Amino acid sequence: MTELKKYFAVIGNPIHHSLSPQIHSAFAKEAGLHINYEAVLSPLDEFKNTIHKLIEKKLSGANVTLPFKKEAYELASQHSSHAKIAEAVNTLEFKDDQIIGHNTDGIGLVRDLEQNLNVDLKSKKILLIGAGGAAEGVIYSILEKEPSELTLTNRTIKKSNVIQNKMEMHAKSFNMNLNVIEITKLPHQYFDLIINATSAGINNTELGIDHKVFHDSSLAYDMMYDKKTSFIREAQSQGSKTSDGLGMLVEQAAEAFFIWHQIKPKTKSLIKSLREL
Ligand code: ATR
Repeated sequence: MTELKKYFAVIGNPIHHSLSPQIHSAFAKEAGLHINYEAVLSPLDEFKNTIHKLIEKKLSGANVTLPFKKEAYELASQHSSHAKIAEAVNTLEFKDDQIIGHNTDGIGLVRDLEQNLNVDLKSKKILLIGAGGAAEGVIYSILEKEPSELTLTNRTIKKSNVIQNKMEMHAKSFNMNLNVIEITKLPHQYFDLIINATSAGINNTELGIDHKVFHDSSLAYDMMYDKKTSFIREAQSQGSKTSDGLGMLVEQAAEAFFIWHQIKPKTKSLIKSLREL
């Protein structure tokens, strides 16, 4: 009898650029699992229907990408603690008629920084730029590491204030040192780690941040991975080390793989080979 392959998908719009099928297939191959993982384009107003149609096809798990992470949160009947705090879901698990929502973005970012780039977040002075979904998805995981200071900056200050209030509600079990500053009012001071979680790179627009935030001992990290952004160029011109978000992409996928299969895949060689591509 032929073995029935478990079925997984990544759902987004657009989705053609997604590396998730390649990443999960590589993890499965290494683990000796036979899975079927495909990229599914959902019409913008049809996310729920798309998922239900896939459930009929016996979908075991799904990754959810832009612009559906909030809708995935609403669709799930149970949530992991990180999904609850971010109010966004990037990984769905279908189990006994339940839809469980997880968010592995923050764990993915922290693992890339700590394990692949050897940055110990504890006691570091960190600047997080952006207050959209990308920043909201990772901020709690950064705060959990108890950096000496996390400054959240955004063009629209109100959005940063909302995130700050939310973090104050949730951060009960650790010391939180979170400041909020408007992007044009950043102090002339450098940070150990500067993370760009804005979408400015998509249109190649400048962020307008003070160059003094960069230093030759800083690491500038852009959560985007498919192009060299003006943020990365600026950081390099100030002598900072830089990284794109490819490692975060692989690490968030590794955590999703663990949720579905209880197997921790190796990530370093895959990051290297994807980068060479
Ligand atoms: P997502 O949910 O993908 O993060 P979003 O909610 O549209 O998308 O948020 C995008 C982020 O990029 C926001 O922080 C946005 O700043 P505003 O809140 O002020 O809109 C930021 N952003 C986009 N283009 C920018 C630019 N040119 N300069 C500075 N910030 C920018």
